[in-house]
Order: sequence, then structure tokens, then C-alpha cells
Amino acid sequence: MKIDATHTRASFVLANTKPQSVQGLGDIVLLLTDELQPLWRATETELRQQGVEPPFWAFAWLGGQAVSRWVLDNPHVVAGRSVLDFACGCGMSGIVALRAGAGITVGVDVDEVACVAAALNSQRNNVTLQLVCEDVVGRCDLKWPGAGETVESLLRQDGEIRLPEVILAGDVCYDARLAARVLPWLQSMANLGVMVVLGDPGRKYLQTVHMQLLAEYRLHTTTEIEREAYMPAAVWRLLPESP
Ligand SMILES: C[S@@+](CC[C@H](N)C(=O)[O-])C[C@H]1O[C@@H](n2cnc3c(N)ncnc32)[C@H](O)[C@@H]1O
Repeated sequence: MKIDATHTRASFVLANTKPQSVQGLGDIVLLLTDELQPLWRATETELRQQGVEPPFWAFAWLGGQAVSRWVLDNPHVVAGRSVLDFACGCGMSGIVALRAGAGITVGVDVDEVACVAAALNSQRNNVTLQLVCEDVVGRCDLKWPGAGETVESLLRQDGEIRLPEVILAGDVCYDARLAARVLPWLQSMANLGVMVVLGDPGRKYLQTVHMQLLAEYRLHTTTEIEREAYMPAAVWRLLPESP
């Protein structure tokens, strides 16, 4: 099977997931899987040859769950504000933010299949999560869409720089190279006045210098991807560094 069009990616997502709720996230339903192996194998045989990423989008990762729970507990933080769900995967945190009253909300992921999965999940939950598939890490010149505009790229040449008001980043410290790029960039966004909220279950590459602990949760997950069915995860705010 050649994955060369959005509808083909959507068929792949639909064929390999089931609508599922996530404990603690109310009536939100996401296309997820409980079985890593068949999907991973399918991804490898059908997608990997085309340079497609592993199916992170098929799971509600602990870090993203923690951020989402915190948003549900603190809806005022996102209400009416522009929100970036960075490394959105299945789109969970952006969808939760929109359900909590967020303004224009964009999910960003470098994996095109993740963006398709997040779009399907957005539709399923009756919210409009805009999706951008590009690597914005390191860029502080994002062009945020105005009210009523759609975003095709956050890195286009035209228009004034407009940053999101809130960034939600769930589970981005699982890989050394990614964390080494993402954490300084998130810090620079916090220094520019963006409220940056990071969810993490204590991954190896998390560093919490300049971070304030906001909440801790015990969350349900699947032992297909984690050691135990219930695991702790924390929510951190990146504090601006003094100049
Ligand atoms: C562990 S998953 C977390 C997904 C989601 N936030 C959650 O908690 O369920 C990590 C995600 O980061 C994405 N990712 C990796 N590098 C990225 C980058 N440079 N920019 C945006 N997303 C990236 C992956 O494609 C993947 O979807």
C-alpha cells in the first residue's frame, strides 16, 4: 500500500485504531490502539519504506494526558487564548484545550500521519484543531493565524510575527536529540512571554531547571508502551529566565 495522500493516511489510521475514551478526560473520544505490535509492524511494512515515523499518534502518552488533565482542571489558562499543541500526536491536548474554550488552536507535529490522526480526532470531538506538519523547533518568528484565518504554515515569509499565548507540550523528553532541541526552544518562548506548559512522566531527558511544578497525576496507560498500567506524570510551567 502506498501512503501518498491524506485519504490513504486516514484509512490507515481508521483501520488500525478504535475510538476510545481516556480516563480522566471526560467524554473526549480518540482513535487509539491498545496493541503496539500489529500497528508497529504495519507501519514498518507499509509506511517505513516511505520515511514515515513510528505510530506515536496511536497512543495517549502520559505527558500529553497530564497536560490535558491540567487544562481540564484550569480552563481559565486557555479560555479565549491562542494555543499551540506542540508535538500533538493524536491531538489530545489541543482538543481538550478547545473543549475548554481555547481560541485558535493549532496542533503541530512533524509526522504527517499524526496530523491526519489529530484531524480525524478533532472532527470526532466537534472542535476545530488546525494542523501544521512542520518542524518549528528553534523558530521564534511564528506567524500565528488571526481570527477566522486558517493556518497552512507557521513559517511563511509574509505577515507579522505572532506567537501563541499558550504552548502545551506533552511527552517531548523521551529522546536525547529531541529534548536537546525542544527544551531550549520552549524556554526561549517562555522568555518571550508565552505560557509554556510541559507534561512529562519523568522521561530520561527531562530537565526541570527554570520550571515550576504545577500538578502531579496518577494516570492510566497501556503496558504496551509503559512499564505499568498506572503511572505518575507531572505538569511543569517553564518560567521566564531573568535577562
Ligand atoms: C511521545 S509522542 C507525544 C504525543 C502527544 N503530545 C501525546 O502526549 O500523546 C511525541 C510526538 O512528538 C512528535 N515530534 C517529534 N519531533 C518533533 C518536532 N521536531 N516537532 C514537532 N513534533 C515532533 C512525534 O511525531 C510524536 O507525535
